[in-house]
Amino acid sequence: MISLTKLTKTFNGPPAVDDVTLSVPEGGFLVLLGPSGCGKSTMLRMLAGLETPTSGTIRFGDTVVADGARITPPDKRDAGLVFQSYALWPHMTVAGNVDWPLKVAGTPNRAGRVAEALKMMGIADLAHRYPGEISGGQQQRVALARMIAPRPKFLLFDEPLSNLDATLRVEMRHELSRLHKTTGATAVYVTHDQIEAMTLATHVAVMNRGRVEQFASPLDLLAKPATAFVARFVGTPPANLIPIRDGAWLARLPDAALRGATGHAMVRAEDLTLATGPRSLSAELMEAIPMAGQLLVTGAVGGHRITCVAPAGTPLTRDLHFALPDAPGAIFDIEGNPIR
Ligand SMILES: Nc1ncnc2c1ncn2[C@@H]1O[C@H](COP(=O)(O)OP(=O)(O)OP(=O)(O)O)[C@@H](O)[C@H]1O
Ligand SMILES: [Mg+2]
Repeated sequence: MISLTKLTKTFNGPPAVDDVTLSVPEGGFLVLLGPSGCGKSTMLRMLAGLETPTSGTIRFGDTVVADGARITPPDKRDAGLVFQSYALWPHMTVAGNVDWPLKVAGTPNRAGRVAEALKMMGIADLAHRYPGEISGGQQQRVALARMIAPRPKFLLFDEPLSNLDATLRVEMRHELSRLHKTTGATAVYVTHDQIEAMTLATHVAVMNRGRVEQFASPLDLLAKPATAFVARFVGTPPANLIPIRDGAWLARLPDAALRGATGHAMVRAEDLTLATGPRSLSAELMEAIPMAGQLLVTGAVGGHRITCVAPAGTPLTRDLHFALPDAPGAIFDIEGNPIR
C-alpha cells in the first residue's frame, strides 16, 4: 500500500503539490494524470525521496518514509525508478547496467538476478552490448530490467514511454502491464497520455494545479467526471463542454433538460448526431478525422469546438447541424462543480 496524507510541496510560488490525501492498495497501479505543470513529477519525486515535502506524510506499507522534512533516503525505500531519460551508464554493458544497483546493495546471486531481469524484459541476447549499440526501445527495456532486478516492492515511473515512437509505446505499455502483474509490486506512474492511464491504472488521480481533482478508477472517471476539468481532460475524444446560460444551450436554445442552469453541459461525442431539428446547433465544419472505422467530426458553434462521432463515409458539407441528446451527461456550474 502507498498512502499520502495532506502531502504538500511549495517551491517559490503557489504549491506545486497541494494538500493531497489518497491511498492505493498493495499491488495497485496508480496513474498521476494531468496537464503540464500540474505537479505530477513533484509528487513522484517526493515518493522516490528525491524531493522533501513541505508538509504531510508518505507511507509505503506500514513504514513512514516521509513526515514533513524527516525523510527516508531513496535507496532505503525498496522502490525502483524509471524516468523519461533512461540514464544508462554508457561505459557499462547492458548486463553491467542491470547489475549496478545489485552491486551497490551487495545483493547475493547477482548473476542470476541479472539474467532473470533481462529474460523478463526479452533482452537476454543484448547482455554484452553497450547502450550506444542498441535502439531507444531496447534501452528503455534495459532501464526497466535495471529497475526490477532488485525486486522492489514499489515501482515509480515518470513518463517512461514518452521518448518512444507510437508503435513501440503500444508494445511497451503492454510490457509494463505484464511487468506489474508478474512482480505484484505497487506502482505509481506519471503521464499526460490518457490511453496509457486508462490501460494501466487501477486508480487514477487527475491533477490540476497541484490538487487532485478526482481520484477514481478509469471507468468511473469516464462515467462520472467529478468536475468540468476532468470531463474536459479525460476521454478519447474528450467530452464536449457546451456553455449554457439560464437553461439555454449557448444562451439561445432553451431546453427543459437544463432547468435554469448556467455553466457547462457535458455531452459526449458519441451522444451527438449530425442532423437538423428543433434541438440542433448549427456549426461550421472545422475538421473530420477518420478513427477506428468512424469519423470524428468537429465544428465551430459561436467560437466553441464541438465534436461528434459519425459513421464512416458520412457526407459532409461546410454547414453542419449537431442534434443534441435528450439530456446532457452532466451539468457543471461556472466554477466547474457538478450541479447534477
Ligand atoms: N525545483 C523546482 N523549483 C521551483 N519550481 C519547481 C521546481 N520543480 C517544479 N517546480 C514547479 O512546480 C510546478 C509543478 O511542476 P512538475 O514538474 O511537478 O509538473 P508536471 O506535472 O510534472 O509537468 P510536465 O507534464 O510538464 O512534466 C510547476 O509550476 C514547476 O514550475
Ligand atoms: Mg513532469
